[in-house]
Amino acid sequence: MLKKFPEGFMWGGAVSNVQAEGSNLTDGKGWNVYDALEIKKETGQVDIDDTNIASNHYRQFEEDIEYMKQCGYTAYRFSVVWSRIHPNGDDEQPNELGLAYYDRMIDKLLEAGIQPVVSLVHFDMPANLLKKYNGLANRQVVDFFERHVNVVAERFKDKVKYWITYNEINTITGHAELVGGAIKGEQETDASFFNTITCNSQLAHAKALLTIKKYNPDAWVSGMIAYTPVNPRTSKPRDVLAAQIFNNFKSLISFDIMNTGKFPNYYLNFLNNNKLAIALNDTDLNTIKEASKQLDYLAVSYYQTRTIAAPEVSDEAAFINAVIFNTPTVVSEHSKANNWGWAIDPVGYRKALNDIYQRYGKPVFVVENGLALVEEVNENGEVIDDARIQYHKDHLIAMRDAALIDGTELLGYLAWAPFDFLSSHKEMRKRYGFVYIDSQENNFKRIPKKSYYWYQDVIKTHGESL
Ligand code: BG6
Repeated sequence: MLKKFPEGFMWGGAVSNVQAEGSNLTDGKGWNVYDALEIKKETGQVDIDDTNIASNHYRQFEEDIEYMKQCGYTAYRFSVVWSRIHPNGDDEQPNELGLAYYDRMIDKLLEAGIQPVVSLVHFDMPANLLKKYNGLANRQVVDFFERHVNVVAERFKDKVKYWITYNEINTITGHAELVGGAIKGEQETDASFFNTITCNSQLAHAKALLTIKKYNPDAWVSGMIAYTPVNPRTSKPRDVLAAQIFNNFKSLISFDIMNTGKFPNYYLNFLNNNKLAIALNDTDLNTIKEASKQLDYLAVSYYQTRTIAAPEVSDEAAFINAVIFNTPTVVSEHSKANNWGWAIDPVGYRKALNDIYQRYGKPVFVVENGLALVEEVNENGEVIDDARIQYHKDHLIAMRDAALIDGTELLGYLAWAPFDFLSSHKEMRKRYGFVYIDSQENNFKRIPKKSYYWYQDVIKTHGESL
């Protein structure tokens, strides 16, 4: 049995720059939705930390990239922070200091032989766009985004091949403020808000894709979803149906539209049942259609699976709304979970990759996967993170099986994360990195963890050491 990954498979890591950089207002950067977000603590969360500090990556990015180079990375995903380039979002002119910063970052990566994979929106919409326009609940914000993408795509067209238009675009319906800078109006129905932000975010993706291709037709562009497959809680047929509905509306809808260039029937019927219509005009729909013809690959993040039990609702249309808007998902009794209640399910991962590939037939790029742990440096100055090694190992083996046994085409694996930074809930204690970041008092010292050396070996052997 072959143990190596397919030739050309890329190895590396991924970060979200708002969670790592700190230096919130340095060099003309504007406040963004992540900086501004009022955190409601997630299960297991203890601290809320300062985004102005984070990992001090803004000042130490060269050192961080040096660690990636030594580890053997061939690709690295990061986000160009929107509010560094257009601090208020509606500015006519970009902030040159912000552009110059990412220029230096990209140059450093290229020098290190690492392929940059650039994400365009990753919790970084300028806070002003939320305050003044209500983010992607407002069609006008798509135009501001398009202007922003024009600047970024033109600037980096000769240096960046791989692009991701919008981080975890499907989560906009569950985390609208952080992902799309939008807040549901008090009088608005769940279905209507869901529809507005789905339509506008899809248009934003489509415009970004076409803009990138305008500057570089050879660029490889993808949208991105967070795929958290939801399985039926039991084998009862209603649970199975609820799981299908949940996965369609909460995850796959985004790729369904991006791949086909149209809204699928299950979505159109949902609109009809809620007395709604697609919130876009014909020109916008045509933009979505055109973009679908040029989608190159499928970027996904995967952390866990969940389960769902069918709600007790007899009216079939109301059942769909209840599944989408009011039914909690829980961890399967067959999976272990981490401290924050996230299931650990590598077999679910293999199936998730197969699902995506079999539904759309395009190569899948895993651009996030990892395990959060609470960690400390021991008396020998080391961080021993065996649980993280086990997590990545099990997921990489599952991935290799998806490729070599199931025939799923995979572009690469970008682990979450090359180094520690704040969680999406602004908690530094929730660490994902292969490199430990010490506190500000200890000058943000970088300490490679045991997993760093393990990953180095995996990359060196192209997966054979697993
Ligand atoms: C993804 C996001 O949802 O999950 C990241 O793209 C995030 O930005 C990651 O950090 C892990 O989630 P969390 O909440 O533990 O930080």
